[in-house]
Amino acid sequence: MKILVLNGPNLNLLGRREPQVYGAFTLDEINASLEQLAGELGVEVTFYQSNHEGELVDRLHRAVGKEDAVVFNPGAYTHYSIALRDAVAAVGLPVIEVHLSNIYAREEFRHHSVIAPVAAGQISGLGVLGYRLALRAAVELARSRGPGRAG
Ligand code: DQA
Repeated sequence: MKILVLNGPNLNLLGRREPQVYGAFTLDEINASLEQLAGELGVEVTFYQSNHEGELVDRLHRAVGKEDAVVFNPGAYTHYSIALRDAVAAVGLPVIEVHLSNIYAREEFRHHSVIAPVAAGQISGLGVLGYRLALRAAVELARSRGPGRAG
């Protein structure tokens, strides 16, 4: 079983970027923690980060037939990218939306996610723990769907 961990714009700057909001861990450190957890869960993880909307769309398309579920932090695209929402809906894989910060406790424009209605679920505000819980959820959802997945 393979899980894709997908991160959107500015998340490559984690660790240096507003650490009071997003924490002190770098994306590499978060990914290392997920790699270790994946080993414990007996699954494979692949990591991809892009600052470009179309590249994230392309990577979601490539997940079909290749990965079984997706852990996705779309960054600011969460709040307005219909293209990413449509890609999530199109691929038919379980997608867990993750946010390090609690988007509902921040500026009003962050309170709305266009991704959430097509995601399997959303975890917001738990920092790195949110990614770890999302990976567990992705594995359980993919396992309960069994083989014969979309694609
Ligand atoms: C974020 C929240 C978004 O509002 C913001 O634009 C980000 C990161 C988070 O992980 O908390 O880039 O997705």
